[in-house]
Amino acid sequence: MHAARTRGCVIKKLQKLLLSSFLTIAAGLALAADVDGLVETCDGCHGAGGVSEWSDMPTIAGIDAFVHSEALYTYLDGARPCAESAFRRGDTSRQATNMCDIAAGLSEDDIEAIAAHYAGLSFAPAKQAFDADLAAVGEAIHESECSVCHSDGGSNPADESSILAGQWTGYLRATFEHYLNDERDQPERMQRAIQGLSAEDVNALLNYYASQQ
Ligand code: HEC
Ligand code: HEC
Repeated sequence: MHAARTRGCVIKKLQKLLLSSFLTIAAGLALAADVDGLVETCDGCHGAGGVSEWSDMPTIAGIDAFVHSEALYTYLDGARPCAESAFRRGDTSRQATNMCDIAAGLSEDDIEAIAAHYAGLSFAPAKQAFDADLAAVGEAIHESECSVCHSDGGSNPADESSILAGQWTGYLRATFEHYLNDERDQPERMQRAIQGLSAEDVNALLNYYASQQ
């Protein structure tokens, strides 16, 4: 009697264990499926695997997870301009939208999962034209004014900022304009460095980042 009850108890425990592992796996699959759906939307503009083919669209593959989630929270707070854009891949008849509206539709869990997804993919430098003489001028400016924070020529994902080296020029040019016009929050020390740049300096820097392929 006693033995039978113990056995019954063990079977119940096993059933419980099986049920809970099943639920854990099912929840994991549901989360994974949700992330797949979300990043498919992102890739509809940012390119397959987050690697952009368009100069006005940043590559988001390989950005550090913390930096990526901070960027999405910044859009959520409206502290960064959001350009309206059409979808470029998949169903391109989807209604054009912008990063502020996209971020507003994401939960914190979504943001963390998306940021981890793209951090696990490799950044691919854009194949784009540049002027080698201007790039050399830009490199010198970068080394003296920017490299304290943007290390390894702006290619290090571990810096607390996005990747500059090999990022698309169209996107970076718009970003410089946002900073110069005070339309986007920036670290105080960077603001001083950026405000000191002439239009020629900005152009040289853009050629330097484009040259890193
Ligand atoms: C309709 C097109 C579109 C979709 C969809 C879209 N983005 Fe964007 N995204 C843009 C554009 C355009 C920019 C650059 C201009 C701007 O900041 O508005 C951008 C900028 C970004 C940046 C800033 C990159 C940096 O280096 O600071 C991140 C991060 C980003 N998007 C992530 C995402 C994620 C994650 C998703 C999916 C949840 C997504 N985007 C969906 C168009 C889109
Ligand atoms: C004191 C550190 C610091 C210095 C110096 C600095 N930056 Fe930054 N930079 C940052 C941080 C931090 C961010 C991310 C801020 C954010 O997205 O809110 C950033 C972001 C950027 C971005 C936006 C990247 C993107 O895709 O979102 C550009 C472009 C940039 N910096 C260019 C420069 C240039 C050019 C210089 C030198 C003239 C410079 N920075 C100097 C810290 C710095």
